[in-house]
Amino acid sequence: MGSNPIPSAISLMPTYYLWNIGCQMNKAESDQLAECLDGVGYRRLARPDDADLVLLNTCVVRGNAEERVRGELSRLKGLKALRPGMSVAVTGCFVGGGLEELRERFPHVDLFFPAGQVALFRDWLSERVATGCHGAGVSLSAGPAAPAAYVPIIRGCNNFCSYCIVPYRRGREISLSPEEVVARVQDLAGRGAREVTLLGQNVNSYGKDLLSRADLTDLLAQVNGVPGIERIRFLTSHPRDVDEKFVDAMARLDRVCKWISLPVQAGDDRVLQAMRRGYTVEEYRRLVKRMRARIPGLALSTDVIVGFPGETEADFGRTVALLSELRFDTVHVAAYSVRPGTLAARTMPDDVLPEQKGRRLQEIEEMQERISAELNSSLVGKRVEVLVERRAKGKWEGRTRTNKLVFFSDAGEWTGRLADVEVTSASPWSLQGKVALRTEVGAR
Ligand code: SAM
Ligand code: SF4
Ligand code: F3S
Repeated sequence: MGSNPIPSAISLMPTYYLWNIGCQMNKAESDQLAECLDGVGYRRLARPDDADLVLLNTCVVRGNAEERVRGELSRLKGLKALRPGMSVAVTGCFVGGGLEELRERFPHVDLFFPAGQVALFRDWLSERVATGCHGAGVSLSAGPAAPAAYVPIIRGCNNFCSYCIVPYRRGREISLSPEEVVARVQDLAGRGAREVTLLGQNVNSYGKDLLSRADLTDLLAQVNGVPGIERIRFLTSHPRDVDEKFVDAMARLDRVCKWISLPVQAGDDRVLQAMRRGYTVEEYRRLVKRMRARIPGLALSTDVIVGFPGETEADFGRTVALLSELRFDTVHVAAYSVRPGTLAARTMPDDVLPEQKGRRLQEIEEMQERISAELNSSLVGKRVEVLVERRAKGKWEGRTRTNKLVFFSDAGEWTGRLADVEVTSASPWSLQGKVALRTEVGAR
């Protein structure tokens, strides 16, 4: 009498802990792994200590990311010694080609699987579920989707920028078919997603490996027609592969957000060439100007590496000058980090001192803080459309179509809805506002 069957049923469910670092691609793949585990009845825990399965999704883009991964692996070694029944699976860019070597070096890891190989994990998991390991496996239907979801459209990278480890860890480019992408977007829309970000290391290379030769422009046109999807983004664009047809589509398609991440990496031609980026500063500048002329209100984000081998003060000064001329909405700046196996690691001495790298990084961050503050302040008093993603610390949080983070207070329920918000104040990183219209805006 009075006993509630639910808590005991929950306590019988197998549990998992998922650790994720890295870029949006990793986040998207972690979401797929979590969906897979939730689907066979696993319950997610916030800590690894009591979990039946611990899953690490790793990044090695810079040395400090790799150190975090190694730290996590050694922590789990201790945990597994205490609880031998626990399983450990590791994926992401830490897992390269030599799986045998990894297994030998980390014997406490039960499964290594390369980034994006969700099917491998699914097979491993279904074997364990079938053999009764970690519980019986109750098939559940997929739950609601987040208002803004990620959709990988192309895996791997063919570019081999001289500093970058990604092509060595994620392999060559493989595009999903437009049918697969559209089906995924439709599924997400059916479960409540209103925004999708199409992901790839270079989305503008999408389709080059497909028989149909469908390209990103064709794909955007198809996704633009999916009912329920109000906003489409894509990430990341390689400046060399952005063509006129694509710029036209961006300008024309109403669901496509006027926002692009276009990493420049450096503002000096010699450095760009040593990086093997495939464009000059002038070509990049002209592209940005053409895009801004064709797409009014376009918001731009870029990535920069400081302290690349051989980067002089004068070279660095040209990067600063370019950023100050083009005035990006956001800049992600990183200090160059030697990555084993890359062309730069093999042939170019890491000759910029750590303190010089640190100072250059800080100089760009300070300049960009000023620029972002000025650009964001110009929005005060204006009304912006915000797709609300969550409630955090008593405020609604969402993004504008130009990818600016907005917070506002309101008594209503706004998660997953489009709000018309009047901007009341701005900082370099976000906007604050108040709801201008009580009802949802813009939905079709
Ligand atoms: N494919 C995208 C591109 O072309 O920019 C993103 C690649 S990477 C995952 C994200 C960013 O990390 C790069 O844009 C670059 O600025 C930075 N990055 C990559 N390798 C690096 C390295 N060895 N040292 C410092 N930053 C690096
Ligand atoms: Fe790395 Fe260059 Fe590929 Fe981006 S385009 S993932 S920076 S090799
Ligand atoms: Fe890291 Fe791999 Fe992304 S190295 S940044 S997780 S592509």
